[in-house]
Parts: sequence; C-alpha cells; structure tokens
Amino acid sequence: MENFEVINPTRILFGKNQLFRLPELLRSFEVQKIMIVYGGGSVKQLGILDKLINELKGFDVFEFGGVEANPEYATLMDGVALAQKHEIDFFLAVGGGSVIDGVKFMSGALFYEGEPWDVLDKKEGCMFEKALPFGTVLTLPATGSEANSGAVISRRDLKQKRGMGGPLFFPKFSFCNPELVATLPKRQIANGIIDAYTHTLEQYLTFPSDNVLQERQAESILKTLIDIRGVIENPSDYKLASNLMWCATQALNGNLRCGVISDWATHMIGHELTAMYGIDHAQSLAIIAPRLFEHQFENKQEKLIQYGKRVWNLHGTDQTIAKLAIEKTEEFFQSLGVKTRISEYTSDYEGTDSAIMNVFLERGWVAIGERQAIRPEDVKSIVKSAY
Ligand code: NZQ
Ligand code: ZN
Repeated sequence: MENFEVINPTRILFGKNQLFRLPELLRSFEVQKIMIVYGGGSVKQLGILDKLINELKGFDVFEFGGVEANPEYATLMDGVALAQKHEIDFFLAVGGGSVIDGVKFMSGALFYEGEPWDVLDKKEGCMFEKALPFGTVLTLPATGSEANSGAVISRRDLKQKRGMGGPLFFPKFSFCNPELVATLPKRQIANGIIDAYTHTLEQYLTFPSDNVLQERQAESILKTLIDIRGVIENPSDYKLASNLMWCATQALNGNLRCGVISDWATHMIGHELTAMYGIDHAQSLAIIAPRLFEHQFENKQEKLIQYGKRVWNLHGTDQTIAKLAIEKTEEFFQSLGVKTRISEYTSDYEGTDSAIMNVFLERGWVAIGERQAIRPEDVKSIVKSAY
C-alpha cells in the first residue's frame, strides 16, 4: 500500500430535521455576522432560506444570491466586496457544488491583497494564506464539495475553469438532508449519480493496488449508485435519496484516495468542455470517461477486468470483460438520460480537440493520468473520439 496522510475535519450532520443545530454550531465558532450565499433562486423558492433566517435569529444575517452553476469569478468577487463591506465573520453556503465552491473561493479571496484570479491561474508565488470559516447546507448530492477542500471556479470571458483548494477550505460543518433530493430536477439527480460515480472511478479505475479495503469501498459505492438509480424516478424515496447523498459524500471526502494512485484525467478534460460549451460538469464526464477508458485500454486493462467482474458481474474472457465493462459504464450513463457525445450537446464542435490540447500545452499539463501516460496529443485524440 502507498503511504498516505489524511485529514477531514468537516462535521457532517446527515438526515432530516437537523437545522436546529445551526445556532449552537455557529456559537461554537464565536461568530456574529453571517452571510448566507446561494444560487439562482431554488433555495428561496423551496423555503430553505426562510427556514435558515428563522434559525438564525440573534445573529446579524446578510444574503448574497445569484451564484451561477459553474460559479463565475466576477459574481463571486461581488460577493467578496459585500462581505468586506459588512465585515462578515462566517459564510454559510446553501446549495450544490457551485455555491459551496464559490464560498470556498470567496473565503480565501476575502483576505487576498492581489488579484485573486492569479491564485486560480497558479501564478508563481500566488496562494491564499488565510480563509474565513464557512459551513454548508447541501441541496444537491453530487460533487462531495460539502466534505472536501477543493473548488472549481469559472471565468466565462476567458473560457476558463480552474481549480483551487487546500486544508484551509474544508467546511466547518455540512448539513446533508436527503429530503432535498425530492425537489431536484431529474437532470440534476442524473448529474449527481454520474459525478459521484466518476469520482469513484477516477480513484479506482487505474491499476490494481494493495489497498484491498479501498478497492472494495470504491466497488461498494459504484454498486450502490447502480442499485439506487431509481431515485431519478422516485426522488422522494428516502432510502434511495439518502444512499445517493451518502455515496456522493463518500466518493470525494478523501477516503478513496488513501494508499492508491488516482487518475483525474477525465475531470481535467471534462472541465475544458464545460469552459468551452457550458456543458454540465457531469455531462462532460459522461462524454469523456468511456472514450478515455478505450484510449487507455492497455494501461487500465487489469482494473477494467476487476471492475467488470466485481461491479457488473460480467463473465467471459478477460479481454471481453474489460471491453464490456466500458460499454456497461456508457450504457449506465445513457440509462440515466445523459448523452455521451459532444455532438449531442453542440453542433459547433470542430476543432475542440486541438483547442483542448493547446490549453493543456499552455498549462504544462504534459503527462496526466495515473501513469502520466496521457500526453497532450492523447488528450486531442480522446476528445476527437468523443465527437
Ligand atoms: O442555482 P439554483 O437556483 O440553486 O439551482 C441549482 C442549479 O441550477 C439547482 N439546484 C440545486 N439544489 C437544488 C436545485 N434545484 C432544485 N432543488 C434543489 N434542492 O441545481 C443546479 C446545479 O447546481 P450546481 O451546484 O451547479 O450542481 P453541482 O452540485 O453538480 O455542482 C457542479 C459544480 O461543482 C464543481 C463542478 O465543476 C461544477 O462547477 N465540482 C466541484 C467539486 C469539488 N468541490 O470537490 C468536484 C467536482 O468534480 C466538480 O468539479
Ligand atoms: Zn466531478
């Protein structure tokens, strides 16, 4: 097993009727001025905002709404200015991955003296050294952002989507109520399943590791997500919804990466599709993952066989099982109503392959994947094969 170090300080309050704990938790951080940050309005329409304001009597509460899906830098900078004006001492992110990621960025940008984009752009010597504490109320199970320290921020004017993170950016606490799945559009539930599934694959579908426990845990998450796919049709089924939510948290809270080598190439390429075409994050993964597995067939073969046997119960020769495992994965995404080709989302896709390859070259991402075997020209052919 590889050496590893792991920490996850986020307190998860999972289940129904937990929000009454909010004032007590906030008092434990000795904060008074809270800014609630939310997205395009679902939180208001669903009455979650009113509920929170009711719980927060006795605190000075400010609101900042309008954070977009794939949170936009300029919007978040408006939020930073407002937080500075009111001398906020705690952020409460109420939403899905976009709002939570947005708050992670805001919490660092608030104290940053230069241009915060430089941190996202990985300019030499530019980093967030301090962050405002924040908590989350999760409304969409997908990203695991409620239980990790990463964030992804977009700049539409530059067609860029960049990551950030570090130990400063773990939420202090996250309320995870699976009842909220009932209010989600089908598309977002399907996205949630695919994102959690792909997070698991990125840390599992590499090469066999000696961490037998982590392998089995990853397979359990994959099998559970397949088993509970009916949540799309029955989002108020609490058993299905709570298992989806817990899988999504577990898929990216840091456990699965312990003692194994991860991939993350599908995410790196997928982010570029979102940056270029606004394709939903999970949709971009459904487009890239099957093609990347085909391209990396030799490198991933051993693990594809294990995955095919243990997760999909496939039989036959090893070669057949490995091939079928990729087909099963793509069919699974399609069975959730998600399309797996770029041309099904945009007609303007000519040249996408070269454009993404050039972005990778500019950033010096010249050897990615678990074996650093994916070079910019491989990225180009993976993208082309996904047309
Ligand atoms: O904006 P509102 O009106 O709230 O609507 C949102 C949004 O339009 C809606 N929604 C959320 N909860 C709802 C709801 N609608 C009805 N009922 C509810 N309970 O759903 C839409 C999508 O929300 P969003 O937050 O964008 O989705 P998701 O959670 O999938 O987050 C995607 C973002 O997270 C990043 C992605 O790149 C993308 O920017 N990721 C973050 C990661 C992390 N921090 O660890 C890892 C991931 O790989 C991913 O990159
Ligand atoms: Zn993801």
